Amino acid sequence: MLSFDEMQLKLRGSISPHRYAHSLGVMETAVKLAKIYGANVEKCRIAGLLHDCAKGMSTDEMLSAIQKGGIELYDGEEAHPQLLHAPAGVYVAKSEYGVADEEILSAIRSHTVAGKNMSLIDAIINVSDFIEPGRRSFEGLQEVRALAEKDIFAALEECKRLTKEYCLKNGQSVFSI
Ligand SMILES: [Fe+2]
Ligand SMILES: [Fe+2]
Repeated sequence: MLSFDEMQLKLRGSISPHRYAHSLGVMETAVKLAKIYGANVEKCRIAGLLHDCAKGMSTDEMLSAIQKGGIELYDGEEAHPQLLHAPAGVYVAKSEYGVADEEILSAIRSHTVAGKNMSLIDAIINVSDFIEPGRRSFEGLQEVRALAEKDIFAALEECKRLTKEYCLKNGQSVFSI
């Protein structure tokens, strides 16, 4: 596995400055939540930093990474290109950053689609992605931020609900498993 400094350098060179700043925000939020809930801080730090590591790839590159990594897609997931950086990210984290830890990989995999059996780390990364300090404000954000510090799984449900509401309002299709 790369050192943490090497990971930061590599990531900075492979995604946009805006996305990199977002990744640092997710990382900081994930560390804060890990301390509140007694989750593994180092795993949350790495998962937070790397969750969008495949975001700079084209759809074709993501599909090829998913195939090379033998990563299974959910039924219908392929039709949602904006979700594919999560499964592709698993392959990139493994092959380019040397991440082998299944809990970190699971958090990267599930950050775009919250399934039914989310672990504590999965939930922390999912919610951190939603509430990191750089997110432009929208209705309900402050409430989720407060809820995240009290009940992480309730916050996760609220993130899912708000995402669905947002998609429906903006004519985007909703994907859930
Ligand atoms: Fe993402
Ligand atoms: Fe993200």
